[in-house]
Amino acid sequence: MKRILLTAAVLALGVSAVMAQQDVAVQQQNQMKTQGKSMYGLFLKVIKGETPYDQAAIDAAMAELEASVVKIPVVFTQNPKEDVANATFGSSQKIWQNKADFDAKVPPVTQAIADVKGKVKDGASLKVAFDAIQAKCTDCHETFRVKLK
Ligand code: HEC
Repeated sequence: MKRILLTAAVLALGVSAVMAQQDVAVQQQNQMKTQGKSMYGLFLKVIKGETPYDQAAIDAAMAELEASVVKIPVVFTQNPKEDVANATFGSSQKIWQNKADFDAKVPPVTQAIADVKGKVKDGASLKVAFDAIQAKCTDCHETFRVKLK
C-alpha cells in the first residue's frame, strides 16, 4: 500500500514538473509574442498600409514594447528544456550555456527604442524606427532562436 502511494506521489510530481516546464516555455513565448504584437501586429501593418496611422496607438505600442523588452533576461531565467507544443520557434540551448551573452542582446534593443521614442510622427519615421529596432531583435534571434518548422 505504502509503495503504491509512493509511486502515485512520484508520478504526480513527474506530471507537475512536466507541466511547469511547459508553463515556462509558454511564458517565454508569450513574452516574445507581446513584443511581436507591437512590432508586427501594429508597426509593420501601418508601414504596409494595412492599418491606418494612429499616433496614440503607435505611442502606446511603443511604450508597451519598451516595458516588455527589459523583462527578457528575467523571463528567460529558467531553461524549460522543451519547446512549446506545435511552436514555430524555440529557444536554443545556447541561452543557458551563455546566459550573459544572451542578456547582453537586450540593451541594444532598449537603446534602439529610446533613440526613436518621440520621433515617430508618420509612416516614414515609423519605418525608420521599425527597421532600427528590428535589426536588434534579429541580432538575438540569429544566435539564440531556433526555427522548428
Ligand atoms: C535576448 C534575445 C532576444 C531578443 C532581444 C528578442 N528576442 Fe524574440 N525570441 C527570442 C527567442 C529565444 C525566441 C524563441 C523562443 C520563443 O519563441 O519562446 C524568440 C521568439 C520570438 C518570436 C516568435 C514567438 C512565437 O510565436 O513562437 C517573436 C514574434 C519575437 N521573438 C519577437 C521579438 C521582437 C519583436 C523583438 C525585439 C523588439 C525580440 N523578439 C527580441 C529571443 C530574443
